[in-house]
Amino acid sequence: MTRDIAARWDELQRACESCTRCPLGQTKTNTVFGCGNREADLMFIGEAPGEQEDLAGVPFVGRAGQLFDKFLAAVDIKREDVYITNILKCRPPRNRDPLPAEQEQCIDYLREQVRLIKPRLVVCLGRISAMRLIKPDFKITAEHGIWFDKGLYKICAVYHPSLLLRDPRKREDMLLDMQSIKAALDALPEVGS
Ligand code: URA
Repeated sequence: MTRDIAARWDELQRACESCTRCPLGQTKTNTVFGCGNREADLMFIGEAPGEQEDLAGVPFVGRAGQLFDKFLAAVDIKREDVYITNILKCRPPRNRDPLPAEQEQCIDYLREQVRLIKPRLVVCLGRISAMRLIKPDFKITAEHGIWFDKGLYKICAVYHPSLLLRDPRKREDMLLDMQSIKAALDALPEVGS
């Protein structure tokens, strides 16, 4: 990573941590900026930090995150090889869905993360992320696992891990989707070839 890119990451993270664009910054414990490989080919994007994430400052570390880790392991994807973040970087009270206005005020941080990482595959974790990043009328039951072309990268959505905690019958579909994500990752042409 060049010094210029590293400086842009530092600047972005500092801006995010001191953000006052919406009121969530006043009630957060920690900013949950994102974690993993800043040069990853594959990026996962959830909706917003929950309680455990807010306490740890790291995305997907609570019960849903632990279940998600099992799916990553099942398809032999290492958490440290991918980048994981959320649409919102601060926890909404009582884990309610992110409001459209909060998403609007926070989305520039995610856009800059995507510009810096330049992932070749993006996976939305859950419906809220898919509706924001793929299309507003995205239907998770009908369209999970389908790739959409966004030019610089391909994007798909899978069930949110918290839904899989509530509805274990959907875990089979999640495994199939994760297998197809791993296959897409393995099939990426070498850069420059
Ligand atoms: N749910 C999310 O969408 N993101 C997290 O980081 C944790 C739970």
